[in-house]
Amino acid sequence: MFAYQLAVFFQLALLLLCLVSADSPTTVLEYKEWKSIGCQRDSTSERALHHLVALSSPNMTVESCLDSCEAGGYVLGGVEFGDECYCGNALLYDHGISGDCFQACSGNASELCGGPDALNAYQFADTPFTTGPASNVLVYKQWRWWGCQVEADGFILLPHGPLVPIPLEEMTVERCLDGCEAAGYNAGALENGQNCYCDLVVPNGTPNPDFWESAGIFACAAPCLANATEICGGAIDKVLNDHQITTYVTCDFDSEALC
Ligand SMILES: *[C@@H]1O[C@H](CO)[C@@H](O)[C@H](O)[C@H]1NC(C)=O
Ligand SMILES: *[C@@H]1O[C@H](CO)[C@@H](O)[C@H](O)[C@H]1NC(C)=O
Ligand SMILES: *[C@@H]1O[C@H](CO)[C@@H](O)[C@H](O)[C@H]1NC(C)=O
Repeated sequence: MFAYQLAVFFQLALLLLCLVSADSPTTVLEYKEWKSIGCQRDSTSERALHHLVALSSPNMTVESCLDSCEAGGYVLGGVEFGDECYCGNALLYDHGISGDCFQACSGNASELCGGPDALNAYQFADTPFTTGPASNVLVYKQWRWWGCQVEADGFILLPHGPLVPIPLEEMTVERCLDGCEAAGYNAGALENGQNCYCDLVVPNGTPNPDFWESAGIFACAAPCLANATEICGGAIDKVLNDHQITTYVTCDFDSEALC
């Protein structure tokens, strides 16, 4: 009986050894200054890393993806579905971790390149990055949150912007509103996590926030690219070409302000 158990044990051990030594892909833990931050869940409609480098690449490797992200100045990089590469500065939407990183890289069968809706993600040189979930900044200096508005079919509600354009990758609510204030505006808006708009609004005139078309509050849920804990508008509805914007006015405009 004991000998039988021993034999089974050795057979299992041998099987395990074979599995390990077979060419099953493994996670690249480090590359240059990049370190693995594990397998992160992703979503095709709400990308955790917003900057797309490659889809359906026949020669994707962890190294080539991270080299592209480093060249672009990004803090995060990730490979997905065996042949996709993304970069970003924030892990957006707070999708959490995934257990589905099991696909080999199209360009190197010994490396793991994520899986379906799963990113093998990497952080550059321990640089801090933010993660969601995002919520609205309600008050900032003399500004107060007005709501989530819809710009039907691409009509731009607030047509102006800061004097010095803010790089998309640096967008936060504060940067946008400071930019609007410096340019002399009393209304500001953020869109798609990355765009900043400004205007001068007048009570009972046009443009007037009371006439802005309100969208459902959940239509604005896009994290800001430079701070994933803040909402910067909504994603663009590509079918209707509707844009959802998170809007702000100053306390001067609305004396019932929270501030
Ligand atoms: C990967 O493939 C693409 C398209 O076939 C090609 O343009 C690129 O040079 C290749 N990259 C490497 C590192 O081989
Ligand atoms: C493939 O990946 C393995 C593990 O990261 C690495 O050791 C090897 O050099 C890579 N092969 C090529 C051709 O890049
Ligand atoms: C991100 O935004 C939150 C909420 O507005 C703020 O408390 C935090 O300091 C910001 N983080 C960075 C790195 O700016």
